[in-house]
Amino acid sequence: MDGFLEINDLSKKYGSRTVVDHIRLSMAREEILGLVGQSGSGKSTLARLIMRLIEPSSGSILLKGKAQMIFQDPIASLNPKMKVIDAVAEPMIAAGANKKQAVLGAVQYFKKVGLSAGYGDRFPRQLSGGEAQRVSIARSLAAAPELLILDEPLSSLDETLQRSMLDLLLTLKKREKLTYLFITHDLLLAERICDRIAVMKEGSIVETGPTEEIFAHPQHDYTKRLLRDSI
Ligand SMILES: Nc1ncnc2c1ncn2[C@@H]1O[C@H](COP(=O)(O)OP(=O)(O)OP(=O)(O)O)[C@@H](O)[C@H]1O
Ligand SMILES: [Mg+2]
Repeated sequence: MDGFLEINDLSKKYGSRTVVDHIRLSMAREEILGLVGQSGSGKSTLARLIMRLIEPSSGSILLKGKAQMIFQDPIASLNPKMKVIDAVAEPMIAAGANKKQAVLGAVQYFKKVGLSAGYGDRFPRQLSGGEAQRVSIARSLAAAPELLILDEPLSSLDETLQRSMLDLLLTLKKREKLTYLFITHDLLLAERICDRIAVMKEGSIVETGPTEEIFAHPQHDYTKRLLRDSI
């Protein structure tokens, strides 16, 4: 590990309930780490902690760089009252660009995600799920992140769209030298694209390792069960 992301002894409690339980996890620059585990195991909570959208109860997160998040429901993740060109321009304005520079920049990000600039005048509800996901990826990229946290980014899309969106994500990762934390229920997908896998159960990481090892020799009963259920 190169210390790109270091999570130490991280916990999050809601009332008396521990949702993230003493997690230790590292990531290296430019890797794809798959975070898998049943519904309710704490994956999205861990993502929100890394994004600093919520405060930990204890422990630490050191991240050398900026993180952005891509959500499962792209339309809900965009401001319904904002034209999508302005949504993509906004992070650049926040970083100090003037309006004109930011709009020109936004057109470039539209291109990177395979959308023509003509979509810019639309509002989120006037887009298909796939188009909206492209816009939300463009908006994330416009904030110049090093880490993308993708929380079930393909789950709301049909199979054909999933394939083209995955291709786009892998191309962007290479081109922009990004690091991905990829949260998914889809173990076959995780096996295909991830360098390493972390398995989460009831708030804890019960197993982590290179993808081939996790799939060939799962150590934890829970991982074995997840693998069996995914076939
Ligand atoms: N703000 C909150 N207040 C109280 N409990 C919460 C809060 N946010 C999450 N939880 C609880 O924490 C647990 C983990 O939720 P989380 O959303 O992290 O799970 P997940 O692994 O992402 O599940 P899924 O795969 O269904 O998305 C759940 O039991 C959830 O009810
Ligand atoms: Mg979740």
